[in-house]
Amino acid sequence: MKIILYMAMTANGCIARQNNETDFVSEVEWRSFKKMANQVGTIIMGRKTYDIMFKAEAFSGMGAVKIVILSRKKTNVKKNVDTYSSVQSALQGLKKKGIKKVLLAGGSLTNASFMKENFVDEVYLDIEPILLGKGIPLFDSSVFEMHMRLKGIKQLSKDEVQLHYVRK
Ligand SMILES: NC(=O)c1ccc[n+]([C@@H]2O[C@H](COP(=O)([O-])OP(=O)(O)OC[C@H]3O[C@@H](n4cnc5c(N)ncnc54)[C@H](OP(=O)(O)O)[C@@H]3O)[C@@H](O)[C@H]2O)c1
Repeated sequence: MKIILYMAMTANGCIARQNNETDFVSEVEWRSFKKMANQVGTIIMGRKTYDIMFKAEAFSGMGAVKIVILSRKKTNVKKNVDTYSSVQSALQGLKKKGIKKVLLAGGSLTNASFMKENFVDEVYLDIEPILLGKGIPLFDSSVFEMHMRLKGIKQLSKDEVQLHYVRK
């Protein structure tokens, strides 16, 4: 199964402010993310990101996209959303359903969980024109290393670029 990480971040690698706000993420970026989610067809995210997106009604326009959540707590299982308690069980479950591609959509802890297992094949990073001294990092602190090839650079707007990497 191909796992594609897709994230918006500040130029110094923060995916949100410390209070979880992502007000620096532009409409252009958001549209780009939604387009990719619709193309890939399945997105996986941490329970916290799901709760934030659900509250913000951010799933509109993604009606056909299968949403998958990681959560260790049974009480956090959501209606109409596949929930798995580990990265491995999620990938096994999705494989059984014949799913071949998944978009990994954060947050920090979930991204790190996948990186530690060496499961990410491609990375899209949309760089927002801002630096934040404090914020939530792209990956929660953990030991891993991934070597990549730069496959493309796309200008999303005057001040935003998208970097596309593939695993070497
Ligand atoms: N800029 C962007 O593109 C972008 C995208 C997504 C999110 N974000 C931001 O990222 C922040 C959230 O990131 P976060 O790191 O705090 O939370 P997160 O990764 O969204 O969710 C963490 C939760 O996911 C579950 N989880 C994660 N790894 C797991 C594993 N290996 N096995 C089982 N369950 C696992 C756990 O849920 P339980 O506690 O239920 O067990 C954990 O508490 C928010 O501020 C959000 O706005 C930004």
